[in-house]
Amino acid sequence: MTEFITQLPKAELHLHLEGSLEPELMLKLAQRNKLFLPYDDIAAIKAAYEFGNLQDFLDIYYQGANVLQTEQDFFDLTWAYLLRCKEQGVVHTEPCFDPQTHTDRGIPFPVVVNGISAALKQGQTQLGISSYLILSFLRHLPEEAAFKTLEMALPYRDQFIAVGLDSSEMGHPPEKFERVFAKARAEGFKAVAHAGEEGPAAYVWSALDLLSVDRIDHGVRAFEDAKLIQRLIDEQVPLTVCPLSNTRLKVFADMADHTILKMLDQGVMVTVNSDDPAYFGGYVAENYQAIYESLAMTPAQLQQLAINSIKASFLPQDVKNSII
Ligand code: HPA
Ligand code: ZN
Repeated sequence: MTEFITQLPKAELHLHLEGSLEPELMLKLAQRNKLFLPYDDIAAIKAAYEFGNLQDFLDIYYQGANVLQTEQDFFDLTWAYLLRCKEQGVVHTEPCFDPQTHTDRGIPFPVVVNGISAALKQGQTQLGISSYLILSFLRHLPEEAAFKTLEMALPYRDQFIAVGLDSSEMGHPPEKFERVFAKARAEGFKAVAHAGEEGPAAYVWSALDLLSVDRIDHGVRAFEDAKLIQRLIDEQVPLTVCPLSNTRLKVFADMADHTILKMLDQGVMVTVNSDDPAYFGGYVAENYQAIYESLAMTPAQLQQLAINSIKASFLPQDVKNSII
């Protein structure tokens, strides 16, 4: 089945570049940049990756991102991820990054975006992997900070296609960012937002109605609201579901409890993604494999998930048609 999953042409639509920082690269960059890490070795880093909830994870994820300092570091991070894409049959990717995680500790925005963009370009020319970058705002910070980030990013507008919203969900509903999303859309960007990961189905409604997002990141808690599920089906709103993330962050106690197959069967436009693969124990193919094993999926259902990922991407229709 691993081979079957690998050969399916897939798009990855929910991937935090900072969350693809493998412990090996984290140690290497800490040494290169002469930074102190509170871990002695790779085993100690991996031992810290036991999370009770989203916030437990975020605390460690932001700490890990501190080793990213130079344009070369952001290039190396992104390139390592693209090599995984190549191995796993990901033909197109729409990764996101959190500028504020870096600018707030003094790393200039162009250092971050230029390092990432250079690797993405090389991914296209050397690996044949196409990509669009997504700029995410941190929702635990004020909307004013998101506005400043957008202003800072506008001179680099050709390097990203959409804005997103991530970080601590509870207590930071989409409505907090209504004005900055309106501004980003007026500037011509597409929009996505994390909603219904830990937060309630109400956050999915407000991401759709107030932020006018094109896709919902996660959205698994929509399953608790039958009217919302009907809307997602009627409007074919894509959900970028991340099964291993959901079990590692205890959104579902067990993979056998995951609702992705039920949603697929009902006609929801669900896709499979890895979120933060270095922290959650698997890239996109391991996520397909995990749901295949735990939910007794058929090859046809796995193929449908891969087709959905291409359909739900921001690729032009003619390119989608040529892949599917
Ligand atoms: N949820 C919210 N914010 C995040 C995540 C996530 O799964 N990963 C990185 N930032
Ligand atoms: Zn995410």
